[in-house]
Order: sequence, then structure tokens, then C-alpha cells
Amino acid sequence: MFNRSIQSVAHPTMGIVLLGGLSDPVKRLPFHNSAGICYSLVGKDSFSRTTLTISDEKMESTLNGKPIDQEDSRSPFKLINTYHDQITRKFGERGIYFNSVNENIISGSSDAGAAALGRCVFSILPDINPNELELNMRMVSESAGRSYYGGLTITEGIDKPFTRQILNEEYFKNFRILSAVFPHERKPSDDIHFNQPKSPYYKKRIENANRNVETLKILSSNKDISGIFDLAMNDTDDYHYVNGLVNVHIVTEAMRSLMDEIREIRKRFWISYIVTGGNSVFLITAKTDTEKAKELALNHTKELYELEVSGKSRVVHTTFNE
Ligand code: MEV
Repeated sequence: MFNRSIQSVAHPTMGIVLLGGLSDPVKRLPFHNSAGICYSLVGKDSFSRTTLTISDEKMESTLNGKPIDQEDSRSPFKLINTYHDQITRKFGERGIYFNSVNENIISGSSDAGAAALGRCVFSILPDINPNELELNMRMVSESAGRSYYGGLTITEGIDKPFTRQILNEEYFKNFRILSAVFPHERKPSDDIHFNQPKSPYYKKRIENANRNVETLKILSSNKDISGIFDLAMNDTDDYHYVNGLVNVHIVTEAMRSLMDEIREIRKRFWISYIVTGGNSVFLITAKTDTEKAKELALNHTKELYELEVSGKSRVVHTTFNE
């Protein structure tokens, strides 16, 4: 019986120049350039492990063991269906199935899931255009390109945004990221995307984000890693300033108090922060200062994870029976 399966893994992501606002909510296109990194828990790989199967045998498509709602506007089948005809031309009319599990992911799993699936698709259809593949992955998760290419990436363009890696994960090996998680529910990122553009300040935010991406290119060509995270901290402040203007309050008082303390402590040793759309403050520090940073974070919350920057998505297993 025909059965072809490809398994890929891809890491979760966080923004460095944060993405806010969607110029096309279906294609999930942006209004401005952005940047991000991929990460893993230290000592435990964090990834989405995704298997694409083309088979005569009837199977169920699942996400973390639960059946997938194929009608969902951000279902992985949005991506699979765009390649349905090409897959069928190559492998014949058979079932196409998707199974994905998140391993050690604390947040940002949708980028990883979409990127791991994109990697599976590219492995069976190597002639497809990678920029088009990214546009299709975006419909499932707008920052999937970060997870697909890994390390530090920038995403440029509005109608046809595409992502490229500007520094690989090796450059970040002397740095650690602590995720200080606060015990409240995270808000959906779409609250940010749908509200930021309503602010009169948003025009300025677009300019700031685009300029930050240009500065990031210079910092990365100088391999100035602490400069990159300082820029990310300032971008975080600008991003959440807009969120505040449109009443999307991601940064709670408890999170703000940790951020304020980081700003103060920076006078004594280098440390910076990032807050994306979730209920974590990410503290970035030199690897040698990890314990000091942990001590600081633990005064504010009990839930803490140690992270490091990780690399691109990859195929880990294939099977082919006929
Ligand atoms: C989600 O699309 C975008 C945020 O996570 C910010 C970012 O990571 O750029 C909210």
C-alpha cells in the first residue's frame, strides 16, 4: 500500500522588531518590516514535530493528538490545499494527512507548526518557489518565516514579504534568554493586529519598525549581539506604547515592575528585555550572568524557563512504502 511520510521539526519564535497590524487579515500580510529569532529550552529541544503523510490508508489529521478543524481559517490545510494539485500530480490521487505535536514549547507554537509543515512540503516539492511557500505559510501563521529560516531573521516587504536569516544561532551562544511567565491568560495576538492600526500613532510605529530593521542589519553585520537586544528592548517599549493607546494591555503591572527593575539594573550589568504578545517578560543576558538574572526574575514570578537561540527547520525522518 502506498505510504509516503515526511517528518520535520521547527522551533518557536519571538519578535526582535515586533510585528503589529495586518494589511490583509486573510493572507496575514503586514504593514511593516519586522525581525525575530527562534528559540529552544536549554538542554531540551523545543519544537513542533510535524508529519505530512500521503497514503491510501485512511488516517486522521491531528494537532497535539486532537482532530483538526479543517474549516478553521488558520488550519494547516490552508497551506496543504494550496499544494494539493501538485502533490496529487506527483504522487497520485491519495489522502493527505497532517499530524503535529509540540514538544517543550512554552509559547509561539503556531509559527513552528506552520514552518515544520512548510519544510515537509518543500521536501516533497523541491521545485516550488520558497518565497511563495512563505506567503502560503503566513496564512497559517504570520511569522512562520522566522521559524522556517531560524537564527536571527528579518522579514521585509508588504505585498510579498519574505524572510531571510541574517545571523545564525552560533552567534548567540554566549547569551541566554529567561522567560519569566506571569500567571494570567495571554490575549490573542489578533487583538494587537486588529487594534494597533486604529491609533493615529501607528504611522509613526510603522516608521520606527522599518527603521529598527535597517539598524538591525548594521548591528548584525557588526555581530553586535547586545546591541541587537538593546534595540529589541526599545522596540518592545514602542510596540506596547501603541498597544496602550488602543487599550490592548499586554504588559500588566507585575510585568512592568520587572521591566522597570531591569532598566535600573542595566546600570550595573548588561541585561535587556523583550515582551511580545504573551504573558512573559523575556530577560536577555550574557550566559555568565544567567544566575544573577534568574535571581532578579524570581523576585517577580515563580515560573521561569531558560532559553537559547536556535536554528532553522529541518526534515528529520522520511518513509516511503509502495
Ligand atoms: C504575533 O503575530 C506577533 C507578536 O508575537 C509580536 C512578534 O513576535 O513580532 C505579537
